[in-house]
Amino acid sequence: MTRPDTARRSLDHWSEAGRAEMQAFYALATEDYRQLAAARDWAADLRDHTLDGRVRLLDVACGSGKFPAALRRAGLPETPRVAVDLLDPSGFSIAEARGVLRAPFVAEGEHEVFLQDFHAEAAYDVAWATHALYALPPADLAAGVARMVAALRPGGFGVVAQASSRSHYLAFYEAYRESFAPDVTPYTDAEGVAAALRAAGAAVAVQVLPYTTGSADRTVVEGFLQRCAFDDTVSLEEMEGHPALGHYLAGCRAPDGRYTFTHEAHLMTWESR
Ligand SMILES: C[S@@+](CC[C@H](N)C(=O)[O-])C[C@H]1O[C@@H](n2cnc3c(N)ncnc32)[C@H](O)[C@@H]1O
Repeated sequence: MTRPDTARRSLDHWSEAGRAEMQAFYALATEDYRQLAAARDWAADLRDHTLDGRVRLLDVACGSGKFPAALRRAGLPETPRVAVDLLDPSGFSIAEARGVLRAPFVAEGEHEVFLQDFHAEAAYDVAWATHALYALPPADLAAGVARMVAALRPGGFGVVAQASSRSHYLAFYEAYRESFAPDVTPYTDAEGVAAALRAAGAAVAVQVLPYTTGSADRTVVEGFLQRCAFDDTVSLEEMEGHPALGHYLAGCRAPDGRYTFTHEAHLMTWESR
């Protein structure tokens, strides 16, 4: 079976047809956003980058809007107003994210494009991409990241949260590729993003966030892992039965069958010059 390349499978799965799989994924992955929301004083970050009474925010690869929702749940105040431009190549994602935005977030522009094809100069006070750039191909990483850096006004604030190469998402996808899809493009990791940001002129500070997620429910684990691979044709049993992926998964499984996944998110921030 020939499997589509990583960017294609991302686009295919961020769709109405992929809704159930997306919901299965967030049974565990909501924790990614809870960790980010707790990691900094985001209210101060937004307040400090307000211009003319509001923040112009570019939400890069907005997905289904889990990060703004997590900030609200963590108690983000309703002022200053945050006017959000949603950027994502998936129209489904843009509609989902727009549907969950609540004060202080107000949907404004929509950009249904790949980041590497987006052009805006000094137009935003804040730009963030949270667990968003895995499917940005390594060949397009420098261009994509440069677009994000250029989109910030001088004095603006940039944020990228991305799992490191040691983290579950990256380690799992490597083992999955080896087992089932050796020709597909690897995920982009935090280390690669940081290098690309620095090459684009951003003076990046990195905060490392270690945490775990897990479940003893095999249906939950299967749904989560299938979304991690954008592949719902391989069952958990088949994953466990393959040498490379089976070896990785054995390291995540306790004797009682419970799965625990180890994460290391890098929260990268910079002030635009
Ligand atoms: C895991 S979601 C991001 C989650 C989001 N930050 C949130 O708060 O819920 C990943 C998103 O990246 C988008 N994406 C994939 N490749 C992209 C690219 N090259 N440029 C911009 N977005 C991309 C996908 O369509 C998907 O909506």
